[in-house]
Amino acid sequence: MKIIKTKDYQDMSRKAANLISAQIMMKPECVLGLATGSTPVGLYRQLVEWYQKGDLDFSKVTSVNLDEYKGLTRENEQSYYYFMNDNLFQHVNIDKKRTHLPDGMEPDSDKACTDYNGIIEAVGGIDLQLLGLGHNGHIGFNEPCDHFELGTHCVDLTESTIQANRRFFESYEAVPRQAYTMGIGNIMKARKILVVVSGEDKAEIVKKAFFGPVTPQVPASILQLHPDVCVVADEAALSGI
Ligand code: GLP
Repeated sequence: MKIIKTKDYQDMSRKAANLISAQIMMKPECVLGLATGSTPVGLYRQLVEWYQKGDLDFSKVTSVNLDEYKGLTRENEQSYYYFMNDNLFQHVNIDKKRTHLPDGMEPDSDKACTDYNGIIEAVGGIDLQLLGLGHNGHIGFNEPCDHFELGTHCVDLTESTIQANRRFFESYEAVPRQAYTMGIGNIMKARKILVVVSGEDKAEIVKKAFFGPVTPQVPASILQLHPDVCVVADEAALSGI
């Protein structure tokens, strides 16, 4: 595991965006595994800026997102579909037909998950998977659990995640309780993994996830076993180590 320490959030965003743009330049038809949350917003902004300057071309890129809330329509501003359009897809020349997220409006969880596993396989797996880190060590929506769930599955979000996401919704009641997420197996099969972390509030979990024992109680800890992981984190997030 390689750890790149950055000065602050902006520096983290720029360095992480550099790694993604290097991936696109090396393999223009690459498959990017993308993430939501507030941490990657700055790096998406940076990618858009480079695209607008003519330095990046997304025309052959395919994307598969980590997760989606169950029960939110694509038009819902809190859906991850909306987030991806708003933060990246509508600002660059990515072919919308090649952007994929789990279908949050599919009520049949088994179908939604089987379909999504099929999509990841059909695109040939993930070249570079971007990840944020939840306060309880979740990646995607893989919550602490007594075993690592391998494929795409439907999760009941933990109270800590519901609370963390509360700020985006009108009320506590409006926060979805379930989501479809890629499993740990889908993530670990990615050829490269890029984790972005920012802020002092993540310092404790950074220490546990990347320097503690590998356990499904801290889902991100499994990344210690992946052969090609790069963590780009700011000083504040690394202040616990
Ligand atoms: C959500 C997403 C995760 C993300 C996490 C952390 O739960 N499903 O993919 O990593 O939030 O979000 P933030 O970057 O806002 O701290």
